[in-house]
Amino acid sequence: MSVRRLAEDQFQPAGFAFNAENSAWAEATIRKYPEGRQQSAVIPLLMRAQEQDGWVTKAAIEFVAEKLQMPYIRVLEVATFYTQFQLKPVGTRAHIQVCGTTPCMLRGAEDLMKVCKHKIHAEPLERNASGTLSWEEVECQGACVNAPMVIIFKDAYEDLTPERLEEIIDAFEAGKGAEVKTGPQTDRHFSAPAGGAVTLTEEIKAVRWADGNGAPVADAAEVPPSNAARPQTDTPITDPKLKTPATDKAAAADNAKVSGDNADKAKG
Ligand code: FES
Repeated sequence: MSVRRLAEDQFQPAGFAFNAENSAWAEATIRKYPEGRQQSAVIPLLMRAQEQDGWVTKAAIEFVAEKLQMPYIRVLEVATFYTQFQLKPVGTRAHIQVCGTTPCMLRGAEDLMKVCKHKIHAEPLERNASGTLSWEEVECQGACVNAPMVIIFKDAYEDLTPERLEEIIDAFEAGKGAEVKTGPQTDRHFSAPAGGAVTLTEEIKAVRWADGNGAPVADAAEVPPSNAARPQTDTPITDPKLKTPATDKAAAADNAKVSGDNADKAKG
C-alpha cells in the first residue's frame, strides 16, 4: 500500500473550476441532500473533478471544500483515504490498480504486478514514457472470489493470468480499452463456480422409496408438504380468523370474540 500524498508542486495546476456541464451537475447533486447535509456530496464532487481533469488536484480539493463550506483538511482526508482518488497524474489511457490483498496474492497478484512493472514502469504511480499507462497496488476491491483481479478506472477485470493482463494492457494502450470484456476473463459466469455448476445440476423430484434399498418407485405419487413445522396455536398472530380487514360481519364478530378470549387469557 503506497503512502497517499498530494502530488509535488510542479504537477499542481494554478486553479480548478468545473466546466459548465459539470457545474450544473454539481449543483443538482448538492441539492439531493437535505438542508444542512450538503457536505455529504464531497465524494461525488471529488470524483467528478477527477473525471474532468484525470486526477484530483490540490486546487480541486480547495474548490470542493469551498463549494461545500467544509474545512479544507476534511476534504483532504477524504481524497487521501480512498484509493479511487488519484492524487497525481496517472496514465491517460489506463491506470491499473492491482489488488494485493491476501486472496489475490495467493492466486497470483505478484505475477500481475511483474507484468505491470515490465510493461508500464518499474515503480507504482509512475507513468510510462508516453504518459498513457500507470499502475499501483491497492487493497481488496471486493472481488476476492474471482482473484486475482485489477481495477481500471471504474471496471474490474477478474480471474486474470499474466498473459491475459498483458493483452488487456495492450488493448488500453491501443485506445481499445472499451472493447475489453469486463468481469471474469475466463468462461466463469460472474462468481459462479469455475468450470460450471457441480451441485443441484439435476431436477429434484419428490419420490417415495419403495423399499429399504433406496430404489425409487418410477411413477411415485407426489409427497404432500409436511405440516410438521406448522405451529399448533390459536394466538392472534397465527389464528386465521384474525385476518384483517374482516370481510363480513360474521368474521368481524369472530375476530372480536377471539380477541376477547385472548385478552381474558392474558389477564387470567
Ligand atoms: Fe483481491 Fe479481495 S483480495 S479483491
